[in-house]
Amino acid sequence: MELLKIEDVSLKKGNAQILNKVNLSLGMGEVHAVIGPNGAGKSSLSYVLMGLEGYNDHEGRIYLEGKDITGYSVTERAKAGLTMGWQEPARFEGISVEQYLGISLKNAQDYSRNGRKILQHTVSEALEKVALSPQKYLKRSVDKSLSGGERKRVELASILLMRPRVVILDEPDSGIDTLAIEKIFEIIEEFKQLGIGILLITHSNKILSIADRASLLCSGHIIKTGSPSEAADYYTDQCLSCIDERYPREVAE
Ligand SMILES: Nc1ncnc2c1ncn2[C@@H]1O[C@H](COP(=O)(O)OP(=O)(O)OP(=O)(O)O)[C@@H](O)[C@H]1O
Ligand SMILES: [Mg+2]
Repeated sequence: MELLKIEDVSLKKGNAQILNKVNLSLGMGEVHAVIGPNGAGKSSLSYVLMGLEGYNDHEGRIYLEGKDITGYSVTERAKAGLTMGWQEPARFEGISVEQYLGISLKNAQDYSRNGRKILQHTVSEALEKVALSPQKYLKRSVDKSLSGGERKRVELASILLMRPRVVILDEPDSGIDTLAIEKIFEIIEEFKQLGIGILLITHSNKILSIADRASLLCSGHIIKTGSPSEAADYYTDQCLSCIDERYPREVAE
């Protein structure tokens, strides 16, 4: 069964058609990349999937593990096992890294099989997995005093502890240094081992190379789904020279 199925999802804002009949699926342990130019609708698609305010008035249906979650709230989707790593990760004033990751650990999805719990990381191990020293970071606040890259890494550690069914990663490499990019690869590999499905939004060919499948989104349309290299080649050959189709089309109200 597909873990995530997106069926004919369309989204309009004012008279701009942001998403247009998007169909996409994700299997267990699969990495499905979404690529496309700035303004193509990649982040908007992830907001629709997460059920964010302002992105609920879409057409089409969303299924998680065969269950129709289209009408679910953000919290209900999170409980069902859908999590996201944001392009710009959130800040939480007054919460320490230790408390924030502790909450993630408490909300972890149960991956026990045959009565045996699959090894779960501790908060400190999760920090080490994203190359942040627990000694240095556990007592820090998850606020603006953390750099953008540090916040992204703390968020990734949080997802690692939560072990969702499906994770959407919106440009996990943006603002991240070379060392940490290697860590992202290791974490994605660990997600795959657990059978977690990953929707991976990226502009990086290096990150794209770990995907099993890729879809090219342009002006709210999926214009190609295939192997990562097929999608990347199509993008280079057909899209880079085309400036007309980057942004949402204006449509009649
Ligand atoms: N709430 C909104 N109201 C009006 N326009 C919106 C809204 N949300 C998104 N858009 C527009 O929809 C288009 C798609 O935006 P989106 O952020 O999804 O692009 P993206 O593919 O993630 O781009 P990038 O690669 O720059 O992150 C943009 O033109 C954006 O301005
Ligand atoms: Mg985006």
